[in-house]
Amino acid sequence: MPAQPPFTKLVAILPATVPFTGPETLERRSGIPFTLRLGANESAWGPSPRAVAAMCQAAAQVNWYGDPENYELRAALAAKHDVGLANVVIGSGIDDLLGWIVRAFIEPGEVVVASLGAYPTVAFHVDGFGGRLVRVPYRAGDDHNDLPALAAAAREHHAKLVYLANPDNPTGTWHSAEAVRAFVDDLPPGCLFILDEAYIEFAPPSTAPQIDIADPRVLRARTFSKAYGMAGARIGYLLGAAEIIAAFEKIRLHFGVNRVAQIGALAALEDTDFLAQVVAGTAAGREEYAALATSLGLRALPSATNFVAIDVGSERRASQLVAELARRGVFIRMPGAPPISRCIRVTVGLPDQREAFAAIFRDVWGE
Ligand SMILES: Cc1ncc(COP(=O)(O)O)c(C=O)c1O
Repeated sequence: MPAQPPFTKLVAILPATVPFTGPETLERRSGIPFTLRLGANESAWGPSPRAVAAMCQAAAQVNWYGDPENYELRAALAAKHDVGLANVVIGSGIDDLLGWIVRAFIEPGEVVVASLGAYPTVAFHVDGFGGRLVRVPYRAGDDHNDLPALAAAAREHHAKLVYLANPDNPTGTWHSAEAVRAFVDDLPPGCLFILDEAYIEFAPPSTAPQIDIADPRVLRARTFSKAYGMAGARIGYLLGAAEIIAAFEKIRLHFGVNRVAQIGALAALEDTDFLAQVVAGTAAGREEYAALATSLGLRALPSATNFVAIDVGSERRASQLVAELARRGVFIRMPGAPPISRCIRVTVGLPDQREAFAAIFRDVWGE
């Protein structure tokens, strides 16, 4: 065979990475279908019926490209957040947006700081663009992101970016708005803070900090994947200073957000009653999971998200549980690094799904 052209230096040294092994892959590998899909923090409530109706209608016109400026959705989001149009940019989910940020700011060898075991797409993009990820362990004792240690690492390594999900995945824990604000002030000059608020709708109202939209130290990421129940539509957005948002115009794929998702997200945003129902239902489900854990002599970490991490004592036991539950048709996940890898992470399902999970989990734990 003739040789292919050489890969770029960057791609040649990249490990073959799969940040997430999807439930479909696991089913194909094991031959066992999942009857309970509680591992990817998808919303069990689905999208708003208004969003579904809008998307069905839009599907008939999917021969048209979407509006490359995402104008109507951006305008609605700008109004919701009381910011200018120039402060909002839409992408195909936070996963896509994280890639833009790393691409825009990180030269090969430059440092990004994140928690050890934090949301893995960050590491995926940092590796992919030749950056260096410095990882800071979660706080011992209460499994929260260690804000002073993250800021100290940013100072020590002259980090250009620091990433924090608040509320956090995979622990579900969260810091108050005041703590996050203080963290911003603690960062070294020239360090941009990526505040991933994928789960913010589930958190107590005081969790999202007030940050001046013109403050060039902070970029906030939001998504329609979680509380809005539209993970498969792939749509999310960034809020930030106009100069930073303008830079993404140079690198974003202008037709990268699909038309059906744009229209669906706009309808979802308008259905505030549905969102409130999802948030209330999720809170009830979290309490049920915590009570289930207690009844088995285990402890659930406090959560402000749509999932609960349950401390099962050791990484070995957590992986055994993930495997055994999979054998019984239950898809859950576990954090990837100590100390939080002694937990399993279970997405909040609908009441009947929670009941089914509780029965299987009790059985497996009893063994
Ligand atoms: C903290 C966090 N950020 C981002 C995402 C991905 O968001 P999106 O679906 O918008 O790419 C997830 C998904 O689980 C997440 O947990």
